[in-house]
Amino acid sequence: MSQQFAVFGTPISHSLSPQIHSAFGRQAGIDLRYIAIEAGPGDFAAKLQAFADAGGVGANVTLPLKALAAELAVTQSERAKHMGVANTLARTADGWHADNTDGIGLVRDLTDRHRLDLRERRTLIVGAGGGARGIAPALLDAGIGELFIVNRTPERADALADMLGQPSRVHARYLGDVATFGEFDLIINATSATRGGTLAPLPRSLVGRRTAAVDLSYGEAAIPFMAWARATNCHDAIDGLGMLVEQAAESFKLWHGVRPDTNAVFAALSGHSAGLVTAD
Ligand code: ATR
Repeated sequence: MSQQFAVFGTPISHSLSPQIHSAFGRQAGIDLRYIAIEAGPGDFAAKLQAFADAGGVGANVTLPLKALAAELAVTQSERAKHMGVANTLARTADGWHADNTDGIGLVRDLTDRHRLDLRERRTLIVGAGGGARGIAPALLDAGIGELFIVNRTPERADALADMLGQPSRVHARYLGDVATFGEFDLIINATSATRGGTLAPLPRSLVGRRTAAVDLSYGEAAIPFMAWARATNCHDAIDGLGMLVEQAAESFKLWHGVRPDTNAVFAALSGHSAGLVTAD
């Protein structure tokens, strides 16, 4: 019987993860079945257990379940433990092991696919939920410069900055003060606001000569922020499709021991991209 995998979250029906992992499986000659399971905070634990009972050996976890996934696991990787959020679960004899491949997936997409040099980039993250927590440590490790974090609920930006533990480099600020921050080289939308419809547009004063605007979402959810990036002449406008493929490849490696070639799969899916890369 083929090995069973799934992605959990809500809404999940439009997830591209089943397609991505099936393509990786074909590429690696691994017989696997990967499905999407709709689950919210109230029923995730029960559905994950039912999935394990039915032979499930690995899972991805997305909105809004990433913190819960880290909590439900019996063991966690260093990076999942540090930030308390997981996007990948692997079944072990004792229960689930949690990991987080979002950060490495984002950094790989930006540096390998889009050829961005992240070093010393003055960076703004909008949002302080599970998505932001997953990517912030990897960005710091990749050598970005100062990191500013703003969030609708300011306490969560404070909490994220505290968790990162680099007070001279990481600053939590009020979203309402964003017009006073000056220019950034990297602006990341890590909110789920566009999925609900309303992220107030950011001021043009944030955009400088080489600003890259990056949305962690892809497809329709990324359209408003990508439109803002183009309207304000950001040098690069990159949506989350490449990150999705790269984080999936890292999850695949954790489960199967092989890292697939992501370029062919990214190219096949690029009709789902709302992003554009401005050439030099
Ligand atoms: P995720 O795992 O995608 O980060 P999350 O933990 O629910 O999901 O976080 C969603 C993020 O989007 C949060 O930063 C949230 O702000 P709050 O912490 O104030 O809830 C942000 N967000 C969601 N809807 C928003 C909106 N309409 N305007 C601004 N921010 C919004």
